[in-house]
Formats: sequence, C-alpha cells, structure tokens
Amino acid sequence: MLFDPRPKKSRKELFNRIEELHHLDESAVARDPLVVVTGIRRIGKTSLLLSFLEKWNGIYVDLKGVATTRDLYDRVSEGLTSRVRRLGRLLKNIHGVKIMGFEVELKWRGRDSVSLIGLLEQIDRTGERFLLVLDEVQATKPPVSAELKRTIAYAYDNLDNITVIVSGSEIGVLHEFIGIDNPESMLYGRYVKEVEVGRFTREQSLQFLKAGFSEQGFTPGMDVLREAVSIFDGIVGWLVFFGKSYVEGKRDTRDIVEMAVRTARKELLRLGKRERLVLKAITRGAESWGRVKKYIEEREGVAIPKSSLSRTIRKLEKLSIIKQYQFLDPIYDLAARELRT
Ligand SMILES: Nc1ncnc2c1ncn2[C@@H]1O[C@H](COP(=O)(O)OP(=O)(O)OP(=O)(O)O)[C@@H](O)[C@H]1O
Ligand SMILES: [Mg+2]
Repeated sequence: MLFDPRPKKSRKELFNRIEELHHLDESAVARDPLVVVTGIRRIGKTSLLLSFLEKWNGIYVDLKGVATTRDLYDRVSEGLTSRVRRLGRLLKNIHGVKIMGFEVELKWRGRDSVSLIGLLEQIDRTGERFLLVLDEVQATKPPVSAELKRTIAYAYDNLDNITVIVSGSEIGVLHEFIGIDNPESMLYGRYVKEVEVGRFTREQSLQFLKAGFSEQGFTPGMDVLREAVSIFDGIVGWLVFFGKSYVEGKRDTRDIVEMAVRTARKELLRLGKRERLVLKAITRGAESWGRVKKYIEEREGVAIPKSSLSRTIRKLEKLSIIKQYQFLDPIYDLAARELRT
C-alpha cells in the first residue's frame, strides 16, 4: 500500500526509483567496496535500501538509537534474522552464528564469539557476494561508531566480496563519518560511490498520489492533488502523510499541512538556540551570512561571534536542513517561521 507510513520493503511496492535501484544493482554486481546513499529526511532512503536488498544476499542494520555494543550486535542479529530464509545456507558454517529455527543469534562476547569484522571475514571467504547496509550510521557515537568505522575500513581494504552501503539523512555528518575528506581518517581519499535519493518531479508526485488514492478507492479532485504536490515538493514521506491523512477523513489540505508542520517543528526544537535563530533569519529572507548576522543582532537582539555564526550555519548545512540559505524541505521552512527562539 503506497500510503503505508512504514518503509517499503520490496521492489514491487516501491514507486519509481528505477534509476537509483539500477545504480545500486550495478554496485552489487561490481562488488564496489563502499557506497553512500544520501537524501534528506523522508525522501525514501530506507525504502530504497530495503527494496534493493530484496534481490541480494545481505543485511539491513538500522543504527537509529544504537548506543552500546550490545545494541549494535542485537541489531545485526535482527538484520540476520529477518533474512534467515535467504541466508541460512550461507550462515550455516559461520563461527559465532547460531541459527535457531527462524532466529539468528550472534555471539559477540566470551568463548566462540565473533566480532562484526570476524563475521564479514568469514562470509567473504565463502566467495559469495554480500551487502552490509548501515542506515543512520552517522548518529552513532563511540564505542559503536569506532567499531563501525574500523569495520568499514577493514572491509574496504581486505574483503573483496563485501559491499558496505552507508546511509543517512544528515548528509554532511555522514560524509564526515566516513571521513573520505579527512587526512586523519582510515578511509581518506578512497573511492566511494554515491547514490542520491532525490525528490519526485511534480508529474511523479501527481502519479504517486493518484495511484495511492486509487488503491484505497478514493478519487480526490485534481485541484486537491495539485495543491498537495505544490506544497510537499516531491518529498515522498510527506506525500504519504498527506494521502494517509486524507484517506482517514481529513479533507482540508491546510489542516493536513498544519499537522505536518507540527511534526517538523518538534524535530527542529531539538536544535540549539543558535541554530533556531539562524533558521528564523532565513525564513525572514536572510540570504547571506551578513544578512543572517544583521537579522539576529537587530531583530532578536542577540550578538553571536563571527566564528560561531559560521559554525552554526555549517552545522545546519551538515544536517541537511539548509543549503545556500534555503530550506531543503518546505515543511521545515514553514515550521521555522513560528519557531520559538
Ligand atoms: N519509492 C517509494 N514508493 C512508495 N512509498 C515510498 C517510497 N519511498 C518512500 N516511501 C514512503 O515514504 C515514507 C518515508 O520513507 P522512508 O522511511 O523510506 O524514508 P527515509 O528517507 O528513510 O526517511 P528518514 O530520513 O526519516 O529515515 C514511508 O511512508 C515510505 O513508505
Ligand atoms: Mg530512513
């Protein structure tokens, strides 16, 4: 069902994304060592990755909320478990992995344990191609982040049959995480393939809404669809939000937009005061460093040192909230207009 808010899991559920799937399939065939999948929040990264993986040997690991090594290994076990049917044969003789019916247990401590690197090493030795998908990897912190970085670098150098795919919505933070531009990092200067998940065109968005509504026996007028498309700007997660709300009985587009804005506002409230001030300045038309500074000083009466303002703007860019003083998501733009600072 297209308006299901959960990530799609199979190619037949996925709307569009032919090109992105093609790029990922190419990487799997070529056994590229490292692929980065980027895209702003709600653009459909997780859906793309899960649907892509359907056809290949590999696992999807969601790193959101993973704080400890135990959490990490739990998630890897979950990833293995959800693919046990396909991977059972491959995992049969892997040391540290126990298959119990439909569950896979990874022993990560004590005797007969296996590390993530050890697991990949054994899989690599089977000669079969294997994909490790790490979603929201940039949010991890030490010691988990350190283990992941080590694993990625080790696989890059030594494991020819393993392709690691990392993904996340905070594009700058993700780039920083893998460190290809950082001379201190293990992956400095390496070739990394990048697949960007983009927004749907207006036409695709219209088709998406029509198809989603038709699945559920609804046929809203073209004016309703066009209005939604122009507000949500091809961001598929918002289109789903709109479609689902409409189907559930909300008929006023403005009400649905207000609900979306409220959700976005909650997300923006996690930012610090300086970030919120900068966002507010941008909603008031500040389109350069100087204008942002002027707005904050004159309108909000707050003095921010030069270097710290630059850092704040860079941070918002790294989080993929703005780019060149523009919001990447129009709903965030609306949400920032009424942000308390
Ligand atoms: N190609 C697609 N076809 C149909 N629905 C999609 C597609 N891509 C994403 N969706 C839907 O859009 C919503 C957001 O998708 P998803 O969770 O995959 O995005 P995301 O980029 O991973 O988001 P986040 O950054 O929040 O993790 C979900 O409801 C999902 O089902
Ligand atoms: Mg996701």
